[in-house]
Amino acid sequence: MPATIVMGGQWGDEGKGKLTDALAARAGMVVRANGGANAGHTVETERGVFKLHLIPSGILHPGCTCVVGAGVALDPAKLLAEMDGLEGRGVDLSNLRIADRAHVVMPWHPLLDRLEEERREDDEIGTTRTGNGPAYADKVARKGIRVADLLDTESLRHRIFAALDEKNALLAGVYGAAPLDAGPILDGLAAAAERLRPYVVAAEVVVQDALAAGREVVVECAQGAMLDVDYGSYPYVTSSSPTAAGACQGAGVAPTQVRRVIGVFKAYATRVGSGPMPTELFDEAGAAIRERGREYGTTTGRPRRTGWFDAVAARSVARLNGVTEVALTLLDVLDAFPEIRIGVAYETAAGPVSHLPAREDHVSAATPVFDTLPGWLEETTAIRASHDLPPNARAYVAALEEKIGAPVSLVGVGPGREQLVPLRESEGWGLG
Ligand code: GDP
Ligand code: IMO
Ligand code: MG
Repeated sequence: MPATIVMGGQWGDEGKGKLTDALAARAGMVVRANGGANAGHTVETERGVFKLHLIPSGILHPGCTCVVGAGVALDPAKLLAEMDGLEGRGVDLSNLRIADRAHVVMPWHPLLDRLEEERREDDEIGTTRTGNGPAYADKVARKGIRVADLLDTESLRHRIFAALDEKNALLAGVYGAAPLDAGPILDGLAAAAERLRPYVVAAEVVVQDALAAGREVVVECAQGAMLDVDYGSYPYVTSSSPTAAGACQGAGVAPTQVRRVIGVFKAYATRVGSGPMPTELFDEAGAAIRERGREYGTTTGRPRRTGWFDAVAARSVARLNGVTEVALTLLDVLDAFPEIRIGVAYETAAGPVSHLPAREDHVSAATPVFDTLPGWLEETTAIRASHDLPPNARAYVAALEEKIGAPVSLVGVGPGREQLVPLRESEGWGLG
């Protein structure tokens, strides 16, 4: 059975967790591909609200194997806290698997993340300060510590001492911070490793075996394609690739094994942290989107920046990632707006452009060109069938399809599991 990728099409928080949970109702496996505890994926069920950070969003379905893939930056203490929280709520974790190749977020990584942000002052990226950037930097610099290394205490001791040689020089020399002591770090990680050991596997083998056995495998990305380290608004990006290609790499799935690439987009735009956002709103409409959409960070609680849908960015993302279908979430947030706008081009010093300039300062300087559509001024939260959507809502969806260049197969009309409206019958969503 081929794989399905669930990826964010914007700046994160598009509702990937909810969509992954829906697909997991009938999928055999969900693999988280990238990012780490910087992610916050919400699944609202009759048992309450679950906020997942490192654990794949299929975990609430007992028949679904959930794999933390090799592309993830894994903070053992955070993972254990998340596991304890879920077990405390009666969630069975026997189907959880952890990639032995995943890189470990070490105690110095969140510290360096914070110190580097403070050093940048007004230029700060606005990271989640979870240590993701420094952990991925060490991975690419070939000096990271991986989950497999945690399981052998003697070798771990050696690696921690070697790493601290460099990190303590950096902490003292560049940041004027106190050095770290290897002893407690080793003790804490060795204890965490013993608890994680039963879950650690060669994840790429587990994933390939599932595909070979005909199980449906869903690859869940964190973040969004506009935060991609290559194609996002560098340097205001995350340090991994939340793209369809990154999904393959991080999950251990070959590109030729992918059939569906589901781009999850909100019906408008949000962004957390710094960096350009041409369609950003600073007025009452922006505040209304924030309040109606409860747009506060799942991981950090920060208020999210809000704006109209950016079709320039969305079209570029759909093309680069081969998005086969769009899941359009939070449509209900727009129920109260008499007019709705779509950013369709950017005016720049060099004239109008319909693609994303490479330089983030050029994107910041761009003025969006908007199309304006009439709103529907009708509550959509109880709608379950596409023919019940107000005509203006359907016209808005059709306009987005045309601008994005990919079909919308489903819309979200509320945070609840049942608040999903399939627009096309052909593709399964595991609803009902
Ligand atoms: P993720 O990081 O992509 O998984 O998204 P988050 O969980 O960080 O943020 C999405 C938020 O929107 C969560 O609070 C969800 O419960 C909520 N949500 C998801 N889909 C919908 C929808 O269709 N309508 C509304 N009103 N809320 C939604
Ligand atoms: P999910 O998976 C929204 C943003 C941060 C910051 C930038 C870099 O829930 O959609 P980092 O900590 O990764 O070095 O921060 O990326 N960011 C997210 N924004 N949703 C996320 O994850 C994010 N993960 C990182 O706010 O601007
Ligand atoms: Mg989120």
